[in-house]
Amino acid sequence: MTKWTPSSWRNKPAKHIPSDYPDVAELNDVEATLKGYPPLVFAGEARRLKAKLADVANGKAFLLQGGDCAESFKEFHPDNLRDTFRVMMQMAVVLTYGAGQPVVKVGRIAGQFGKPRSSAVEIRDGVELPSYRGDNINGMAFDPVSRAPDPQRLLKAYGQSAATMNLLRAFATGGYANLRNIHKWTLGFVDESEQTKKYKELCEKIEDALDFMEACGVTPESTPQMSSTNYYTSHEGLLLGYEEAMTRIDSTTGRWYDTSAHMLWIGNRTRQLDHAHVEFMRGIENPIAMKIGEGLEPDELMRLLDVLNPDNEAGKITLIARYGHDKVAKGLPTLARAIKKAGRQVVWSCDPMHGNTIKTDSGYKTRPFDYIMTEVSQFMQVLHSEGCWPGGVHFEMTGQNVTECLGGSARAVREEDLSSRYHTHCDPRLNADQALELAFLISEELGRYRKDEGVRLAG
Ligand code: PEP
Ligand code: CO
Repeated sequence: MTKWTPSSWRNKPAKHIPSDYPDVAELNDVEATLKGYPPLVFAGEARRLKAKLADVANGKAFLLQGGDCAESFKEFHPDNLRDTFRVMMQMAVVLTYGAGQPVVKVGRIAGQFGKPRSSAVEIRDGVELPSYRGDNINGMAFDPVSRAPDPQRLLKAYGQSAATMNLLRAFATGGYANLRNIHKWTLGFVDESEQTKKYKELCEKIEDALDFMEACGVTPESTPQMSSTNYYTSHEGLLLGYEEAMTRIDSTTGRWYDTSAHMLWIGNRTRQLDHAHVEFMRGIENPIAMKIGEGLEPDELMRLLDVLNPDNEAGKITLIARYGHDKVAKGLPTLARAIKKAGRQVVWSCDPMHGNTIKTDSGYKTRPFDYIMTEVSQFMQVLHSEGCWPGGVHFEMTGQNVTECLGGSARAVREEDLSSRYHTHCDPRLNADQALELAFLISEELGRYRKDEGVRLAG
C-alpha cells in the first residue's frame, strides 16, 4: 500500500466533495488558516473513546450515537444544544437502567455540517442551481449567490463547533450531568407526555438507589462517575480538506489524530475502497465508523476492514447498518456471519433512519416511527441469532418538539401535523418524545439479549 499522509487522499477520486469553489486560492488560504487553529478534541480523549468502544465490541457496553442530520448556523443556540444533550442523557439513563450496562454517548454534533446529496443540482420552476450541501459549504436559499460554495463558511463552522464543544464539555463535567439531577432533565413542553411520566417513575427508582448508596457513603462527591459524564463528538468525515487541516501529530504517541471530533464516520456513498474517503480514514488513529447497507457483499467488507483496521484492533471500527425496515433481515445476516467467522473485531450499530425515508403526498420527507423501531428490532434479532452483540444505535434526533417523523405513541405525529414544526435542514429527526420512547423499547429488548449474551460470554 502506498504511503499515507494527511493529504494522500488528494491523489484519489473523491465523491461528494464540492469541486466548484469559485476561488480555489481562497479555499487554500482558509485551509491553511484552519491548520493553525486549536484542536477541538485531544488525542487522549479519542483513545479513551476507542477503549470504551472496545467494551461495546466485546458485548460489555452499548453505544448511543445521535443528533441532527445537519447542524446549521441558523439553529445554533445554547437551548438547542442543551435540549439535544439532555434528551441523550435521558435515553442513556433509560438504556443503562434497562440493559444494566454502561452506555457510551456520542453526539452527531460539533461538526456535523456537510451533506452528501443524491443530486448535485436542484431544479425549481425550470431554474437549475447547485444543491444545498450543508452550511459549511453553501447556503440553503435558492439563489445563485447562496448556492455557490463559500470557503469562509468553513471558518464559521469551525467557530460554531468550538463553541458547541465548549458548552458540551461544561454540560458533561460542570454539574448538569450529575445523577442527582436526572429529574431535571425532563423537557419543559406544556403538557406531560406518557414518556415523561414513565421517565419520572424511573427517576424515582434511581433516586431511591442513590439515597441508599449515599447512606453507605457513596456520593457524587466521592465518586466522580456520578457527578459528571463522558460525552463524545462525531460527524461524517466528508469534507476532507477540513479534516486534513484538523489532523495533527499527537505528541504522546507520534501518531496522526483528526482533532475535529473524537469519532469520524464514512458515509454510505463514500466508502469505495480505492477512493479518497477510505484513504484518508485509514491513516488516522481515531475510532472510525462506516455506514453499510444494501448491496455490500462480505468480500468487499473484509477488504475495507483490511484497509481500515489491519491490526483488528477492538474499538477501532463501528459498522453502522442502515438498510431499511424491509431489507435488514435480508442483507445483514451474511455480513454478520462473515465477520464472526473471520474473528473481526467490530461494533455493530443500527441506523434505522436512512433506509426508512419516505415522501408524503404533500411533499414532506419523513420517517415512520414503526419502521424505525422495526428496523432496530430486526437488527438485534439478526445479530443475536448470528452470535454477535447488537451493540449500538445511531439516530437523527433533536431535543426540540419538532414534527418531522410520523407516529410515536406519546403525542403521535400525523401526516397533517408535519407542516406545523418541520425545521430540519436535511433529513427528518425524531423529536424528544419519540427518542425517549425508542430508548424504552430498545432497553426492554436489550435487557433480554444481554441476559443471553452474559450466558454466552460466561460459557
Ligand atoms: C447521514 O448520516 O446523514 C447520511 C447521509 O447517512 P448515509 O451515509 O447512511 O446515507
Ligand atoms: Co441524514
